[in-house]
Amino acid sequence: CKGVNGLDKVVLREAKGSSAEVYLYGGQVTSWKNDQGEELLFVSSKAIFKPPKAIRGGIPICFPQFSNNGPLEQHGFARNRFWSIDTDPPPFPTNTSNKAFVDLILKPSEEDLKIWPHSYEFRLRVTLGPGGDLMLTSRIRNTNNDGKPFSFTFAYHTYFSVSDISEVRVEGLETLDYLDNLQEKQRFTEQGDAITFESEVDKIYLGTPTKIAILDHEKKRTFVLRKDGLPDAVVWNPWDKKAKAMADFGDDEYKHMLCVEAAAIEKPITLKPGEEWKGRLELSTVPSSYCSGQ
Ligand code: BG6
Repeated sequence: CKGVNGLDKVVLREAKGSSAEVYLYGGQVTSWKNDQGEELLFVSSKAIFKPPKAIRGGIPICFPQFSNNGPLEQHGFARNRFWSIDTDPPPFPTNTSNKAFVDLILKPSEEDLKIWPHSYEFRLRVTLGPGGDLMLTSRIRNTNNDGKPFSFTFAYHTYFSVSDISEVRVEGLETLDYLDNLQEKQRFTEQGDAITFESEVDKIYLGTPTKIAILDHEKKRTFVLRKDGLPDAVVWNPWDKKAKAMADFGDDEYKHMLCVEAAAIEKPITLKPGEEWKGRLELSTVPSSYCSGQ
């Protein structure tokens, strides 16, 4: 059906009432609601649903370059391309019975080949499980016929909706090494406790565990993020000053969002022709009391 500005979107619904929305523009999930109808992802009230600007919120896909660390535009171009529905995807190993899902595909246009001269097929499956869990599986295949490998970096740039950033903590990243984008990408080691927020944060945690939890104390809700093929995790909150500098982000909205991004950044993925890479993200929620101390 049609979303903002007439852009095409796919709505996934599950029997108990949870739902998700995926825009073909960006191949981007822009909504994930639980069976109470509560929105779990953050999308800015100022988001611009219009090319070439990427939609500010939900789950933009950063490919083939994370950040501005390379020749391409910030976070690559997948987030501001029009994806297609993949009507004939090759078989996925995952069981989809009982699940609502959509398959999307992105291939380079002639123009894209001029800025990144590699032929690829990027297949994205978005699945809503019976318990309302949201799964994103990316499969990227090198279809170059010139024998050349290519390398890329990647992130699921997930914007979680939180009640109050100062009441949020992230578990699973303590004691890890990280690159601090606010300090010229220098490498540091996190000391001790769970991560909490009282100012701007922009860090790339390296070699992270497959499970990360975001505890929202006020909402008594914990997001559980499970990932596969994605060793790194970016944690980003722009805080007040950067928020004001972004045209598509409300001045106070930083209080109600947190990006925790399952990613492959430090060691780029290299694919030879014919090779395929897979990166999976699974999001679920549990009541906080259940998760605390785990
Ligand atoms: C994060 C980066 O992933 O995305 C930040 O670590 C960046 O440095 C942020 O500011 C937002 O990027 P953009 O291009 O969507 O404004």
